[in-house]
Amino acid sequence: MSVNQTRNWRASVLTLFPEMFPGPLGLSLAGRAMAGGVWSLDAVQIRDFATDKHRSVDDTPFGGGAGMVLRADIVDLAYVSVADERPRVFLTPRGRPFTQADARRFVAGPGVVLLCGRYEGVDQRAIEARDWEEISIGDYVLSGGELAALVFLDACVRLLPGVMGAAESAEEESFSGELLEYPHYTRPAEWQGRGVPGVLLSGDHGAVAAWRQLQAEKITRERRPDLWARYVARPRSKEARAEQTVFANQASVATRATAP
Ligand SMILES: C[S@@+](CC[C@H](N)C(=O)[O-])C[C@H]1O[C@@H](n2cnc3c(N)ncnc32)[C@H](O)[C@@H]1O
Repeated sequence: MSVNQTRNWRASVLTLFPEMFPGPLGLSLAGRAMAGGVWSLDAVQIRDFATDKHRSVDDTPFGGGAGMVLRADIVDLAYVSVADERPRVFLTPRGRPFTQADARRFVAGPGVVLLCGRYEGVDQRAIEARDWEEISIGDYVLSGGELAALVFLDACVRLLPGVMGAAESAEEESFSGELLEYPHYTRPAEWQGRGVPGVLLSGDHGAVAAWRQLQAEKITRERRPDLWARYVARPRSKEARAEQTVFANQASVATRATAP
């Protein structure tokens, strides 16, 4: 699909640090797509909606405790300045973990409005009043939601039609199916005494595909038991079971044997 055939996917980011955008999203794939009109980004300075002469946006938490909390009234005024039919996402370590399926879901819509917290976070009433979806990018605490917003947007934008060429196809990468991706190799075929798995040099496409499948299964089993358990337990036809690797079949037999 050419750039002209794509719709404009619009992202608005509510932040105290609009100068952090587009940042890395202005470069490479995402930057080219933005320049080509596939998507657009506006960063909204929350402080512009402050109502006092000090332009304050935060206050101390009710009930005491360390840190400051972003005020509900100021955050909501900032939201109203961009509000439309787009979904709202508040980036917070308390949110549901962000996944590739989420990225696909948001890309299917008109865009997104992202809210970046700072300090201790955002007054809960602002989140509840507009039913912001709460999403975390991982089990660690960042200083603010801006880096999380960049991660979120990068994962979405690369899936927009026309952004990735055939060379960067998303079809086989990790999380596009049920498994992590197999390892990659390129020239030189020998580097610091390390060779390349012989099958990749064989020209036998069937053997290459089988090797990659086996590697993807091995890596997923070793590194992500949660994904592996889902993979071996997935419902499959008799034919599909016959086609899959011995490795995965053994695992599903073992799983069925140990299932309660
Ligand atoms: C210092 S953090 C606040 C942490 C909060 N007091 C807590 O313990 O949950 C400030 C802001 O950074 C953002 N943030 C931090 N870690 C994040 C994560 N893992 N995913 C998404 N956003 C995050 C959120 O917007 C948060 O409001």
